[in-house]
Amino acid sequence: MCGIVGYIGNKQAGPILLEGLSKLEYRGYDSAGIAVRDGENEAEVVKSLGRLANLEEKTDSGKAIPGNCGIGHTRWATHGAPSQSNAHPHVSGNCTGSGSGKVESLVVGVHNGIIENYQELKAKMERHGYAFYSQTDTEVLIKLVDYYYKKYKVGPIDALAKTIVRVRGSYALAVMFKDYPGKIFVARKDSPMIIGKNDDEVFLASDVPAILNHTRQVYYIGNLEMAELSAGEVTFYNLDGDTVQKKLTTIEWDAEAAEKGGYEHFMMKEIHEQPKVAMDTLNKYVKEVDGKNVIDLSEAGLNADVLKSISQIYIAACGSAWHVGVQAQYVIEELADIPVRVELASEFRYRKNSLDKDALLVVISQSGETADTLAALRMAKEKGIKTLAIVNVVGSSIAREADYCMYTLAGPEISVATTKAYTCQLLCTYLLAVELGKARNVVDVYDYYIDEILELPKKIESTLENNERIQWFASKYASAQDIFFIGRGIDYAICLEGSLKLKEISYIHSEAYAAGELKHGTISLIEEGTLVIGSLTQSDLYEKTLSNMMECKSRGAYLFGLTSAGKYDVEDSVNFAVYVPKTDEHFSGVLGIIPLQLLSYYISLSKGLDVDKPRNLAKSVTVE
Ligand code: F6R
Repeated sequence: MCGIVGYIGNKQAGPILLEGLSKLEYRGYDSAGIAVRDGENEAEVVKSLGRLANLEEKTDSGKAIPGNCGIGHTRWATHGAPSQSNAHPHVSGNCTGSGSGKVESLVVGVHNGIIENYQELKAKMERHGYAFYSQTDTEVLIKLVDYYYKKYKVGPIDALAKTIVRVRGSYALAVMFKDYPGKIFVARKDSPMIIGKNDDEVFLASDVPAILNHTRQVYYIGNLEMAELSAGEVTFYNLDGDTVQKKLTTIEWDAEAAEKGGYEHFMMKEIHEQPKVAMDTLNKYVKEVDGKNVIDLSEAGLNADVLKSISQIYIAACGSAWHVGVQAQYVIEELADIPVRVELASEFRYRKNSLDKDALLVVISQSGETADTLAALRMAKEKGIKTLAIVNVVGSSIAREADYCMYTLAGPEISVATTKAYTCQLLCTYLLAVELGKARNVVDVYDYYIDEILELPKKIESTLENNERIQWFASKYASAQDIFFIGRGIDYAICLEGSLKLKEISYIHSEAYAAGELKHGTISLIEEGTLVIGSLTQSDLYEKTLSNMMECKSRGAYLFGLTSAGKYDVEDSVNFAVYVPKTDEHFSGVLGIIPLQLLSYYISLSKGLDVDKPRNLAKSVTVE
């Protein structure tokens, strides 16, 4: 979703703001803008529709706008269509154009999130003589700050506090006041924001990659907190206006990890990072004790007593992270013999049913900021249920608010379509399943499971070597209209993720079906040449899924069979076979997805699409 950046220091702000915004492009956006102040002068606002390159062209990469203090924004439209006037920054002055140029204004600001009661607030502001040039909730917010600032004459922090108590919704807000040159004021609720600091400079961003080239020292601003930023200085305040002390945290990711490193796209780089990040994640939770490997979840705050006390598991997540949950449901139920219910976070959060008070809610999220997942977590906490987060971004809202937190060590994931974070999340659920099973005394081959899990990074690596065949196949099917993925159990979960990967970056319609469901309607869509991809990694379900594939073949389908090497010979039955290395079948999902990630990547590439930034999508979905 939208990206925010800010800078105050001794350098020219424009180029730094644009460079920061370019690092946030992956989040998805449709327009961009910056506002820069040169000493006491009015802020100069420049906005443009479309790619950041348009804004770079207008501003000579930021160099055409003088000043050392500024804010910038990439917008992903929520209220009001993508247009120059709806682009941020927004200004408090009553202007007619698009709010660009040197607009006479007391307050200029950028905002991520959604102001739910903006219509009611807009009507109030109109009654007070404010005129609006955009359809955005952000312009309402900026004008509200202006209104309280003038009405109470209490200074920026108090004006922000008064604004915050009037608005409902989520925001990461950064504003500059005409009366306070060289300063940026920020406020945050439920939308990500970090503040980076050097000796003489302060950086503001909605995500780490935007500031990594400048500093790794960051502050996390809490919910309903505000801060005053000036060159090299940050002061935090709570809603009462009292100062709040905070410690700087060091970001371990290095700047290089957020660059393409020789690959054409982030997605391909991230696909190839999987063996390494999988091993890093396993090394965090598997320790050698007396010459034996054991799972140790103490870093996540979990121990055998906590695990033993759990009688039910709920899993809530969105998108690919939900697919991890679907797969984890099968694995945890089998290995730990405990009931598991997996739900989309957007559904779970509105559940009226009572929840088992001895349950553990597992929320899974790469960004740690997904609005629905965060809301599901909060709902469970309110009901007194223990919560565990499996999260990639350190210090994110979900990581901070959950009772227990297992970090995935995937590093920065820039491509919108998740690959390496998904893999690390799956591995965490495998470790959780085995450790839960041990705590509940139902695992009799503990060492074997750990050995099998530790072998997975190497097997991912050898799966990646299948590249050329998949690339060839992708070019053959790049013009497909519909593709079906079918499987049962863990294979069904692989299909869900394979299908989403494909549709999000190749724009080909595809569906993932539990293979047994096909005959209940979907099979009518199969016609001559339709591609059906069957996942067949589970022995007890192999024949059944294969029969379902054959039913499609008899109706003209072209079959792609994905299975485990050395176990089955599907070549006689299918038109194209892909094998992944053999592993304990509970863990085959982490291998099965690799050829499907590659397939999606190569299809998107063959179609000449923007692999890393698919249309309409955002990396981090911070609104409902
Ligand atoms: C798909 C994808 C999304 C995310 C979903 C949840 O490739 O990346 O479906 O999985 O938006 O995001 P996080 O994991 O950040 O909560």
